[in-house]
Amino acid sequence: MPVTVIIGAQWGDEGKGKIVDMLTDRVDMVARYQGGANAGHTVVVDGEVYILHLIPSGILHTGKVCVIGNGVVVDPEALIREIDELEGRGFSVKGRLFVSSRAHLIAPYHKIMDVAGETASGAGKIGTTGRGIGPAYADKAARLGVRIGDLFRPDYLRERVAAALAPKNALLTHLYGQKPVDIDEAVEWYLAQAVRLADYAADTGELLRHALRDDKEILAEGAQGSMLDVDHGTFPYVTSSTATVGGAVAGLGIPPMEIKRVIAIMKAYTTRVGEGPFPTELTEGDGPRLRKLGGEFGATTGRPRRCGWFDAVVGRYAVEINGVSEIALTKLDVLDGFDEIPVCVDYAIDGKRLGRMPEDMSLLDKVTPVYETMKGWNASTTETDRYSDLPENARRYIGRIEELVGAKISIVSTGKARDATILRW
Ligand code: GDP
Ligand code: IMO
Ligand code: MG
Repeated sequence: MPVTVIIGAQWGDEGKGKIVDMLTDRVDMVARYQGGANAGHTVVVDGEVYILHLIPSGILHTGKVCVIGNGVVVDPEALIREIDELEGRGFSVKGRLFVSSRAHLIAPYHKIMDVAGETASGAGKIGTTGRGIGPAYADKAARLGVRIGDLFRPDYLRERVAAALAPKNALLTHLYGQKPVDIDEAVEWYLAQAVRLADYAADTGELLRHALRDDKEILAEGAQGSMLDVDHGTFPYVTSSTATVGGAVAGLGIPPMEIKRVIAIMKAYTTRVGEGPFPTELTEGDGPRLRKLGGEFGATTGRPRRCGWFDAVVGRYAVEINGVSEIALTKLDVLDGFDEIPVCVDYAIDGKRLGRMPEDMSLLDKVTPVYETMKGWNASTTETDRYSDLPENARRYIGRIEELVGAKISIVSTGKARDATILRW
């Protein structure tokens, strides 16, 4: 089974970091394929909390090789901070982390553009993480980006930076009323990053393809979630990359036929950070209760996450578009104290059921969720690691979700720690 792809099935923060860390023991390499430091993947090992933004969540297993693929947009300062933090906490990173020379860089001007664009949008803002993600992917598509490999060719780098800055400075000065970015300062900044990145830059596509030829097992770690995918998500309230399974192929440079498993990470309820439609959102009562019980505050920005019941229309959609072979259901323990647990099984508009995810996702603002109410279990599932130890109603809840979304739940997570996990394989 050479490549297993991990995707988020909802709006991000499903617990991908915990599951990737837990599965890393079984593979040789872990590779991130899209997104940037907008991601915040939490891993808890021996009670110690690690929040990874760019480095794959497999890095805490000493001896495993980790890759940041060409599809990721790399903020070098964030990456270096993360490397230094891990090394400071006793994990060697050099020699087992490789970053694609083809990955595009995020510079301070991308973050300025991100924040200025959001401010100018006013009430129409996306609610981005402000990490420069949209502007960096826009530069990549417009062929104005600077790639890691360019850092090691100073003359060419200056040409790239000049091309990138021309339209930005026009926008910054004329539209956003800000100072232009000085080209000398920008080039100097890029060259300063080259010093530290030189140890990590590599042709990671080739590295991964060689590993596949040698029958190595690779875990491809997605960021964000399918509903934040730039094509298949709740556009325009999405991130700027392919957070669905295809992102792994393009973002790592590996053949699609190597993918043998697609594991969707689904939270036992739903959360979302930032703006955009969210049919099962509960703004009062059980919503704030879920936030408190689940500790639902952003791992990157600290923003409170919007919370609501499990949405099986979203779940089924994610299973279909990603060809999901199995599901990891996380945070089941957060539902322990609820007497009743509604599950959204369909959407309705004016009393008429839609029966599917609407093609026009702006309708998600207008739909009423159709709920089926499951009985709670009112017992602790925290840290349970055997399926048979789960209360009967918890097993019923799991079974009903499997039926509704159309895939088997082979992993159930019952806590933050590695061993608070039930494996059903
Ligand atoms: P990611 O972005 O998908 O990696 O998810 P985040 O790390 O942003 O958010 C998930 C949060 O839930 C983190 O604080 C995890 O430590 C925590 N978590 C993961 N799985 C479980 C679980 O099964 N139960 C509980 N209570 N917390 C969990
Ligand atoms: P992980 O990998 C949850 C959201 C932002 C915003 C939208 C666009 O931890 O699951 P961006 O900065 O990407 O341009 O913001 O996407 N967003 C996330 N929400 N988890 C994430 O990552 C996210 N990354 C981006 O809140 O709504
Ligand atoms: Mg997160």
